[in-house]
Amino acid sequence: MSSPSRTYGRGPRGFTSLLLAIVTLLAFLQLGSASPSRSSPRNPADEPLHGRQTSTGDKYLVGVGKGDITGPVVEINFAGYASTDQVGTGLRQRIFSRAFIVGEVGNPRARFVYLVLDTQSGDTALRNGILEGVAALGPAYSMYGRSNIAVTGTHSHSGPGAWFNYLLPQVTSLGFDKQSYQAVVDGAVLSIKRAHESLQEGFLDFGTTTIPDANLNRSPWAYLANPAEERAQYADDVDKALTLLRFKRASDSKSIGVLTWFAVHGTSMLGNNTHVSGDNKGVAAILFEKSVKGDPQAAEGFVAGFSQSTVGDTTPNVLGAYCDDGSGQMCSFESSTCADGKSQACHGRGPAFQKLDLGVSSCFEIGRRQFAGAKALYNTPASLTPIVGATVSSVHHYNDMSYHTFPLPNGTIAQTCPAALGYSFAAGTSDGPGAFDFTQGDSGAPSANPIWSLISSLLRAPSPAQAACQQPKPILLDVGELSAPYAWSPNIVDVQTLRVGQLLMIISPSEASTMAGRRWRTAVRDAAASTGVTPPGVAPLVVLAGPANTYAHYVVTPEEYDRQRYEGASTLYGKWTLPGYVHLTLASLKFLRPDAAGAQPPAGPTPPDNRARSLSFISRVLFDSAPAGKKFGQGTVSPAGEYARGAVVSATFVGANPRNELRLGGTFAAVERRRGTGCGRG
Ligand SMILES: *[C@@H]1O[C@H](CO)[C@@H](O)[C@H](O)[C@H]1NC(C)=O
Ligand SMILES: *[C@@H]1O[C@H](CO)[C@@H](O)[C@H](O)[C@H]1NC(C)=O
Repeated sequence: MSSPSRTYGRGPRGFTSLLLAIVTLLAFLQLGSASPSRSSPRNPADEPLHGRQTSTGDKYLVGVGKGDITGPVVEINFAGYASTDQVGTGLRQRIFSRAFIVGEVGNPRARFVYLVLDTQSGDTALRNGILEGVAALGPAYSMYGRSNIAVTGTHSHSGPGAWFNYLLPQVTSLGFDKQSYQAVVDGAVLSIKRAHESLQEGFLDFGTTTIPDANLNRSPWAYLANPAEERAQYADDVDKALTLLRFKRASDSKSIGVLTWFAVHGTSMLGNNTHVSGDNKGVAAILFEKSVKGDPQAAEGFVAGFSQSTVGDTTPNVLGAYCDDGSGQMCSFESSTCADGKSQACHGRGPAFQKLDLGVSSCFEIGRRQFAGAKALYNTPASLTPIVGATVSSVHHYNDMSYHTFPLPNGTIAQTCPAALGYSFAAGTSDGPGAFDFTQGDSGAPSANPIWSLISSLLRAPSPAQAACQQPKPILLDVGELSAPYAWSPNIVDVQTLRVGQLLMIISPSEASTMAGRRWRTAVRDAAASTGVTPPGVAPLVVLAGPANTYAHYVVTPEEYDRQRYEGASTLYGKWTLPGYVHLTLASLKFLRPDAAGAQPPAGPTPPDNRARSLSFISRVLFDSAPAGKKFGQGTVSPAGEYARGAVVSATFVGANPRNELRLGGTFAAVERRRGTGCGRG
């Protein structure tokens, strides 16, 4: 167990009016004791070797902030596994928005905001809400907007959903929930406000380290489709590099935060866990923030963001995928299936899978490994490269991927397609097999999903143009050609890149596979150097972040696409999605040049805003009261007498439905310790 858990029991399905909360208090449990284990970090083989600078970097405006986004922790379906059964029953760890602002010292309009949300992804509804919320903060915030706010998600699969803009990911959550949406938006806006209020002059330093044991490729069969000479350039079939950007204020040289990138799915908590948490990145962030408390080199309010990177084909289940069918066999290499030819019994194993604790211990361990690598790097300032070059810039526009044509590097014209999901999408992955059970709603059975019952009749065969465009994907769900009752999936994506000095951040709407991310980063690095985007004589540094801004499922290489595993089947816009994204990014890089002076390309087509027209079959809290003669908060079973150190203390008291009051920034239950005659929180 990674932290004192706050567990809200829920009665049989269909919510009971009374909630008896059982709080298990783990006495004296210390979360922050893990210590960094790695020695001197080095540049991993898959990252460009960058020249070491001995001087300090240039001065920027830097600010960090954090806001609680823990929405309704019960009765709302979780986002990620797309499993109708995974409905919240309580809270393990609060989830947050962490905001990082970087600006030019002399130019208040040259800024960007990088948000790390402990959510499954960025999203168009959330992004619209955040943009409106920031605009409502007043003229002092007018420099922040569509172009320079990046909304990235950590890809946790254990937080409340029902905030999505598009219909397909709303199906399992029975639609859109205003409260769930608003909690994320409000916490994100608050994190930006806090980061803005903390802005001051400071420095940025960049480094990479290797984390050998926190991720694995879950689709090596697809990865092997990439050319052998390309694969030979890399030691691993996933990115083992963790990248770190350190934020340090100039006034007293204290660090105010770190922003890191590492590629690993937020699927350490299993699909049958129903307690809200930030999964492994949520653990890593909290471990880092706790570890610098009281550190004289770190400022009060230090914020650690653990952002997602080339996550597409990664898994935190580092012991491999096995069949839970009694055979003890590994799942098949090509299709992740078991002896019955199906994927349902195939489950990836995390480092502590024997614990049978719904992934809690494995989640802590994968989080701890990311934290330990990041902390060791942070503790070795000599290995960090200063960020230099005064320019802070961003570029954003929308692009409609439906039949979008563009030239490949060899001049051949290629085309992307309206969104579609292939057959392997329904099979799921070894992190969450066969999660597409809402298709069973089609049966008309009483348990049928009401949204699916409503919309399944709207499904139709793809148009001939779409079927040809998506080749060789066999289309299961032609989501990009469906717009009733409103758009099912994005066809319009955000194309965004942020830049400070020699560092560029590709903000990807899709989960990029390892090789897709490498190609995208390499193309940007080469173009940035050759087109005068980054300062002359300084090697560009490039990171890829996502899924961000909207949720456009996956992006794999054309070779991986041909294998049509889950990630290829979920590459929405066809075989040429990746070259299309790369082309769009490269075409917009010129707006990041120092002489672009904040100019932006035309905005492009506006994505549909479905917030006000979204379906919702999510019931309200109808009735909530304490039993006769009792009050909310009143104890029913009190702890007895004295306990030995390390013993488990249990208390039971009358709780209310947490949906009635989210207690954002607070807590549902506190453990207090009496010191002497006074009373202090422990
Ligand atoms: C949760 O799911 C895992 C497989 O992912 C399974 O091994 C385990 O038994 C399940 N636990 C419970 C309590 O259902
Ligand atoms: C250009 O590259 C694409 C992708 O590799 C390939 O399919 C196409 O045949 C190439 N065209 C020419 C003229 O070589």
